[in-house]
Amino acid sequence: MLEIDLCGIQLKNPTILASGVLGISGSLLSRVLTEGGAGAVVTKSVGPVRTGFPNPTVVEVEAGFLNAMGLPNPGIEEFIKEDLIPLANKGPIFASIFGSDSEEFARNARLIEPHVQAIELNVSCPHVQVGQIGQDASLTKEVVSAVKKAVKIPIFCKLTPNVAPQDLIKIARAAQDEGADAITAINTVRAMAIDINIEKPILANRHGGLSGPAIKPIAIRAVYDLATSLDIPIIGVGGITTWEDAVEFFLAGASAIQIGTGIAWKEITIFKSVCEGIKHHLKRKGYANVSDLIKRAHRSIKK
Ligand code: SIN
Repeated sequence: MLEIDLCGIQLKNPTILASGVLGISGSLLSRVLTEGGAGAVVTKSVGPVRTGFPNPTVVEVEAGFLNAMGLPNPGIEEFIKEDLIPLANKGPIFASIFGSDSEEFARNARLIEPHVQAIELNVSCPHVQVGQIGQDASLTKEVVSAVKKAVKIPIFCKLTPNVAPQDLIKIARAAQDEGADAITAINTVRAMAIDINIEKPILANRHGGLSGPAIKPIAIRAVYDLATSLDIPIIGVGGITTWEDAVEFFLAGASAIQIGTGIAWKEITIFKSVCEGIKHHLKRKGYANVSDLIKRAHRSIKK
């Protein structure tokens, strides 16, 4: 009832660990698949070695978290050796990769392809320069096209909500036209918090990305709008903490969902509880599987 086929990859359920949360080590990824019950996991974004931004890099705000980590990672080769090779055959693993241009994206994709089932292109981090790629349709096109030529496994392009709504669709269509197999929507929302005592921004980087329940309605809007104009699957992400949230994303047009900050709100078994809730909901509604929910909220506006 919960199994899905995502771009030719069979998942036992439609819940996926979002990039950046617990995906920093192979052992944590493995726990999310086994103990947590996720259908698949996305790694932290990896690419060229980066130490990341100084602290503070994370702050809890009302209904969410604000982070500006700065894409810290040990470098893709090291990550593969230390964390991905020991994970071989543990379950569907998707690699989140970044690069400064299309060549670097393609190189990273080639290196990581043998160790994962799909690649998610992080062109959308809201507080680093490489994240600006995803704000521009022609740069996104170049990256997707280069990676598509470099690898055979499915590629998902993760988009930013930090653009005008019509541009989000334009950028997604550019990715689709170049062969992206799915769109992941959305990355975090560019935001800021200020300490009223020291009278300065709290994050060392000043700006960061907002995640958690605060951004769910923004993510739902993005998925709904994208679903009106794309033919490829959409992986919905942004503020999911309950099965009801997941169902809302399917109704908006998502074919699968990712949970990230939700783990901080609940715990690692959030995937199991969301799946239980979806299953009961499907039974109550008399639906055979998740695909019966996808895009149902679009019905009433169809001519
Ligand atoms: C970060 O490392 O700063 C966050 C990554 C992202 O939002 O894509």
